[in-house]
Amino acid sequence: MQATTRTGGLITGWGAALPDKVVTNEDLVATLDTTEDWIVERTGIRERRVGGTTAGLAVEAGQRALDTAGLSPTDIELLILCTTTPDMAIPSTASLVQDELGTPGGAVDLNAACSGFVYGLVAAHGHVALGYERILLIGAETMSRVTDWDDRNTAVLFGDGAGAVVLEATGGVDGLLGFDLGSDGSARHLLEADIGGFMRMEGREVFRRAVRAVVDTANRAMQRAGVTIADLALVVPHQANIRIIESAARRLGISMDRTVNVLETTGNTSAASIPMGLVHAVESGRLHGGDLVLLVGFGAGMSWAAAVIRWGTGA
Ligand code: UT7
Repeated sequence: MQATTRTGGLITGWGAALPDKVVTNEDLVATLDTTEDWIVERTGIRERRVGGTTAGLAVEAGQRALDTAGLSPTDIELLILCTTTPDMAIPSTASLVQDELGTPGGAVDLNAACSGFVYGLVAAHGHVALGYERILLIGAETMSRVTDWDDRNTAVLFGDGAGAVVLEATGGVDGLLGFDLGSDGSARHLLEADIGGFMRMEGREVFRRAVRAVVDTANRAMQRAGVTIADLALVVPHQANIRIIESAARRLGISMDRTVNVLETTGNTSAASIPMGLVHAVESGRLHGGDLVLLVGFGAGMSWAAAVIRWGTGA
């Protein structure tokens, strides 16, 4: 859709969190029928972090985002936690995070798998348009808990982590220029897990659809934002496989040096991967006020989502 908000929102704070425990490819080679070369060549992943709880990682990343924004938890009117690995079936993990951080307003989980953070960003902008002033948006996952560590098809891919942003109302300038959200539930069997069970994935088919979905959703969001790929300073794609990113970047006509890649050291962290990529880009000085950034994700559902945002206040 074309963003037509009455009140604009801008990202004013950001932060990420990772568990301490590093699991290297070498560690996995010791227990799985795989090789370091296979994992690096087929995925681009060298290591991933494992441990903690979704709420614990979310609290850490959320607090960092509040600190960068210069806000206290009591300033937050709504907490949106994007996750596909909640800590409990009931209640929402957002309620644990809300209690731990001490945010006074609403708290809700949002599950759109690896596309979750972009769905959450659009939802947050929608709430700003309704009058909310300050929203804490977090993507947090403990994929390690739904990973069968004896299954080489999935064990080499996933990791744990969290990334968060604060979205504040500006009264005028809006950071969200255009977006696209979509899903095709008829393909949900390609990547699924029963409650309490492990993930099963048809990797090759997910790969094939992922490239197409990323290109199509990115093009739709750019068209609605009235921008072209040449206008973008940076693309922050979901971090699932470096070959998916390379393939999509080639089709979109953007060089890899204008994409953000953290998966080499994080693996696929589902809804946490885009905010962690965004935080990495800001902290490494790759984003400046006024830059146009494309956030694009795809994942189980199948779901996909893209958003073109203008960074900071330099509009
Ligand atoms: O977050 C969103 C959801 N997830 C994704 O986006 C993942 C999308 N899929 C992928 O990233 C890739 O499809 C994988 C990394 C999962 C697999 O890579 P691939 O190049 O598509 O490999 P493949 O599935 O075509 O398998 C090639 C071979 C197979 O052996 P055969 O049948 O050719 O003898 C697999 O059994 O590689 C084998 N294989 C492995 N070999 C060593 C699969 N996993 C491994 C492994 N180590 N870990």
